[in-house]
Amino acid sequence: MGQIKEHPKRDSGRMGARRIYEALRDQILGRTYGTDGLLPSSRALAGELGVSRSTVTVAYEQLAAEGFIDVRHGARPRVARSVVDGGKSHAVSRPPTRSVPLSEFGERLRKDPPRWTEPLRDLVANFRYGDLSPADFPVLAWKKAIVAAVTRRPERLAYDDPCGALRLRTALQGYLWRSRSVRCDVDQIVVVNGSQQGLDLCARLLLDVGDRFVMEDPGYLMARHTFAATGAIAVPIPVDGDGLETERLAGVEARLAYVTPSHQYPLGGVLPIARRHQLLAWARQSGACVIEDDYDSEYRYDTKPVPPLHALEEGHNVVYLGTISKTLSPTLRIGYLVVPAALRSAFAAAKQIMDRHTSLAEQDALASMLESGAYDSHVKRARRRNAERRQALLEALHRRFGDRVRIEGAAAGLHVVAWFDGLPQASEEALIRTARSKGVGIYPVSALYDRRRHGRRARPDAVGLVMGYSALEARQIDRGCKLLAAAVEEIEAG
Ligand SMILES: Cc1ncc(COP(=O)(O)O)c(C=O)c1O
Repeated sequence: MGQIKEHPKRDSGRMGARRIYEALRDQILGRTYGTDGLLPSSRALAGELGVSRSTVTVAYEQLAAEGFIDVRHGARPRVARSVVDGGKSHAVSRPPTRSVPLSEFGERLRKDPPRWTEPLRDLVANFRYGDLSPADFPVLAWKKAIVAAVTRRPERLAYDDPCGALRLRTALQGYLWRSRSVRCDVDQIVVVNGSQQGLDLCARLLLDVGDRFVMEDPGYLMARHTFAATGAIAVPIPVDGDGLETERLAGVEARLAYVTPSHQYPLGGVLPIARRHQLLAWARQSGACVIEDDYDSEYRYDTKPVPPLHALEEGHNVVYLGTISKTLSPTLRIGYLVVPAALRSAFAAAKQIMDRHTSLAEQDALASMLESGAYDSHVKRARRRNAERRQALLEALHRRFGDRVRIEGAAAGLHVVAWFDGLPQASEEALIRTARSKGVGIYPVSALYDRRRHGRRARPDAVGLVMGYSALEARQIDRGCKLLAAAVEEIEAG
């Protein structure tokens, strides 16, 4: 039941019939009354408002005369049917509500939205990829840097360079050179809100409706969604243990190729140098831009560093993409692009109309961590901890499954792919459900394949899991694998 909350103390201190009428009318039009449409009895409302019953009766009579309510002797007034149904009466009619049409971009996203699911809680072990352990976050170093950034009186309060604060870009230039052999001008660096914004900038600037873009298959779904939202069409190119099968690019016409050459997501291959040259030669010939997503290159365990595509090509038609989501936190939303000098102003303009620039305080804090060496020390520590977790996972999988499991992509990064060759694809959903009922979160690699290329039968015939380990401690990993083994046994037993 709606209630008149207002008790004006003006004039007589009591609410007059006119004000009661207006308040009730507004509440009726605002659909305050529930499905039964019942208003309070005149006695109850008079008591509540501290007015005489006749004052309320006058207001109710006026509402009835105008068709807002039906009154019957001895019953509580009720909102008129015509008002409930959308208003046949002239006094209350509103134009029918038409659904707001989306743009073509909006429609494409509505039909094929990226997924976001609330992280599962209360699990013994959640092997969800992308989460980091809160225990690894360098609280003291970050606190020192961010407190300094937010407590120093700013020199000016004005919008900054859309490409990012000069201080951070300068610090990143040094970091990229010493850690990744990426040589670039400070002006080629664009600070973005995570790699995701970098992908979106590339999509907007490099793709039009009907254009084609090369995607690794299986590959990073967020990249595929971002490029496809522009109306461009994915050309899925298969991936093997060495990454993108670049010989299949021959004859492919595309404006852009998205690749993860340092550690293919998800299968983990490191693109050999010959394939790197093949990819770059294809891009040069076809005038395509290569987006090199170097998302987890800080974590290399058993492999020798391979120079990024950007270093090989001196960045001519390569956009290099990096992030702090795997080192510091995915929640901070900071990433960086190194763009070809000729595209710099287009990237600056697009970033400016998106959000002016990335928040300056966080940029400043990250810059001071890079300058002081705190960032490099943190990365070293995080690498050591994740190497231990990786070792724990490999041992636990080996202990629980022996040669019934085949591991891919363990040499780098923060995840492995575990293939259970004895388990047919058809048992995947049952395995996920059974594992979850035992407190283990697992995620199939099959979701990362492009369905159109593979069709139903050509997708992997065995169950494969993308197993992230960077948020887990060794005992959780061990316990999780034990429970997973029990789930697999249940499935195998039928
Ligand atoms: C392939 C790939 N690139 C980039 C990222 C990081 O994205 P962002 O920087 O937007 O957090 C991820 C995160 O999981 C990823 O898997």
